[in-house]
Amino acid sequence: MCDSKVNRCECVNKTFEQLKQYENFEAAQAATHCGTECEGCIPYIKLMFASGENEFDIDDPRLNAYE
Ligand code: FES
Repeated sequence: MCDSKVNRCECVNKTFEQLKQYENFEAAQAATHCGTECEGCIPYIKLMFASGENEFDIDDPRLNAYE
């Protein structure tokens, strides 16, 4: 990822703002396949649903709960 902030699933090119339209991680993944390729975004998407925020530092300490 080249941005300093993480704000999307790069593999399916869906922003967290878009993914937030779904009810939860499982629904977002079923609809968009987010998190099924490199899987690097999965902790961020889970944190997105937990926090309601749309972008994160790449090393956000809250990610530890989702890895
Ligand atoms: S960034 Fe989401 S699966 Fe690769």
